[in-house]
Amino acid sequence: MTIHAAITGWGMSVPVNVVTNADIAKIVDTSDEWIQTRTGIRERHIVSGDETTSTLAAAAGRDAMQMAGVTAHDIDMVIVATFCPDRPLPATACRVQAQLGISRAAAFDIVAACSGFVYGLTIATSLIKSGMAKRILFCAADVVSHYVNWQDRNTCVLFGDGAGAVVLEATDQPYGLLSSVMGAAGDREELLMVEAGGTCMPMSTDVMAQGKHFLTMNGREVFKLAVRGMEESSLQALAQANMTLDDMKLVVPHQANRRIIEAIAERLNVPIERFFINVDRYGNTSAATIPIALTEAAASGALNPGDHVLLTAFGGGLTWGSAVVRWGRPTKE
Ligand code: UT7
Repeated sequence: MTIHAAITGWGMSVPVNVVTNADIAKIVDTSDEWIQTRTGIRERHIVSGDETTSTLAAAAGRDAMQMAGVTAHDIDMVIVATFCPDRPLPATACRVQAQLGISRAAAFDIVAACSGFVYGLTIATSLIKSGMAKRILFCAADVVSHYVNWQDRNTCVLFGDGAGAVVLEATDQPYGLLSSVMGAAGDREELLMVEAGGTCMPMSTDVMAQGKHFLTMNGREVFKLAVRGMEESSLQALAQANMTLDDMKLVVPHQANRRIIEAIAERLNVPIERFFINVDRYGNTSAATIPIALTEAAASGALNPGDHVLLTAFGGGLTWGSAVVRWGRPTKE
């Protein structure tokens, strides 16, 4: 019997605090008009008070578990995709595990920046297919605002904070991840990175004075590579699943910039209406964009159990990945 990993529950969580383009225009030389025209972003949620990567991930995870109808005792593993951990040690997944009381689970993080959801979904599915786990809580959460230089208009307008989560459960029906293509170009790290804070360049007052602890990006170059990387990996993932775009109910792309999504739609020759877009309300929440979009798509009826959906992402690393997923819980088991 072939084992599959169905997505039986999902959820999302964003910080309470909303920051509009007009708010940012009070800090740096920009305008609502520039941001909306160049990116499609209107507002984003930014953490305040006690909110952290793990609290957002745990809130999304709680909803996903409730929808799946599983208790803390049922979960074998907790995986968090993030490049914004609560602390360097322990893994943010351990803190999520503690907050949700998932006491008998293994817990670990993965880092693949904006491609984190596709990478993590692939890892979680493989663990279930191999028989190593029966039920996994997988969260993708980033508090990008922690790394944003609020004096740099090239980047500070683009990002937001948030989390999404899914519960994956073993099934003999062909549901969940049907194909996955992932890639990386580690020799292009300078295009999108946080240079300091690790062993290469430990944090110091000097390093901080130079702003090396902030996220930097070559926006124009990343834009081009993102369009190409998401187009190519999408076609590869479809071919691997033996399907075409006509079989997809929806395409859920990483939400970095509306113009990137429009360019991919044009290159794939798919009407933009078949793409789910919510970058206007959240900005780029890194690994969290896809599960937040999936949760909203499912809530709006744009995505229903049994539908096929194409996921595609691109981000720091550089990393990229695309996947074909059959959404939801099998109807008969
Ligand atoms: O998650 C994956 C990683 N991230 C991405 O995928 C993002 C990829 N890149 C992008 O989305 C776009 O490249 C940006 C939104 C970052 C920039 O848009 P662009 O159309 O590529 O603009 P640009 O970099 O070519 O800059 C155009 C001008 C520049 O002025 P000059 O040099 O032409 O005089 C910038 O200084 O716009 C200026 N500019 C701004 N002006 C007002 C840059 N940021 C701003 C701003 N407000 N916030």
